[in-house]
Amino acid sequence: MIALSTVKEVSNKFKAELKGFYPVEEIRNFVWIIFEHVLGFSKVDLITKDDQVLNEEQQLFCEEALSQLKQHKPIQQIIGNTEFYGLTFQVNEHVLIPRPETEELVQWIIEDNKLTKPNILDIGTGSGCIPICLKKNIAEAEVSAWDISEEALNVAKQNAVLNDTKVNFKLQDVLKSDIESSLQLDVVVSNPPYIRELEKDLMQDNVLEFEPHLALFVSDQDPLIFYRKISQLATKLLKNGGLLYFEINEGLGQETCDLMISLGFKNIQLRKDLFGKDRMVKGQWLV
Ligand SMILES: C[S@@+](CC[C@H](N)C(=O)[O-])C[C@H]1O[C@@H](n2cnc3c(N)ncnc32)[C@H](O)[C@@H]1O
Repeated sequence: MIALSTVKEVSNKFKAELKGFYPVEEIRNFVWIIFEHVLGFSKVDLITKDDQVLNEEQQLFCEEALSQLKQHKPIQQIIGNTEFYGLTFQVNEHVLIPRPETEELVQWIIEDNKLTKPNILDIGTGSGCIPICLKKNIAEAEVSAWDISEEALNVAKQNAVLNDTKVNFKLQDVLKSDIESSLQLDVVVSNPPYIRELEKDLMQDNVLEFEPHLALFVSDQDPLIFYRKISQLATKLLKNGGLLYFEINEGLGQETCDLMISLGFKNIQLRKDLFGKDRMVKGQWLV
């Protein structure tokens, strides 16, 4: 038998023991997220029902979460899900945790694509956040999504079910030379790996230790390898007038635009994210 605590006691324990690991605001945020997950509490409940006693299972979860936070495990992996573009996505160690910058890319595609029944392909789908949001928000879209990781695709498939959408998932290495596809597309989108090995030192420990390196890194020698390969493929798969969208490395905006121009894409647009960093590129395929 373990001694059971109230919400207030557990919350105070988080605040005391995580001090020094994270800023105060972030710890408060963790406490909100944990109690929303464990008890379905709102922020108001956390104040008005702070004398509620946890049961044994809830208490054990909180203790495990506290220990994992001390090891810098991302809160999204601890509770097993995250919010993206108003939907809930399951996440684990095999998928990148969807980022707010990527919501901006999704928003751009949705705003642009007023076509009915567009055919869309997402390359390097991870949790499936991009295709699932596009399918939900673009009328009668036919959406496909590829990834090289079977484990990631399993998560993406569960997320499609969770969000009541149909996406055609496929295990596919996009760097392979002989990709066969009969797709005729209106939109190709990708947020491929784009962090150079030389940028590792600038990254937070929780990303480096807990998120899949397959989703993150490219070699310093050829950082645009995915952009080149996907753009070349897009020249074959896009219909006349079709659009190619990328999320990009903030330090390689001009290089990515130049690459797309060299392959014949027109009407190139480079966009910044909410933090003012070059983050997205769009180009059009016109024959
Ligand atoms: C930066 S993550 C993006 C995940 C998701 N689209 C998102 O925006 O959150 C890149 C994804 O590309 C996948 N990937 C890496 N190499 C690949 C390859 N050669 N072919 C296809 N997918 C690949 C990884 O498994 C990972 O899921």
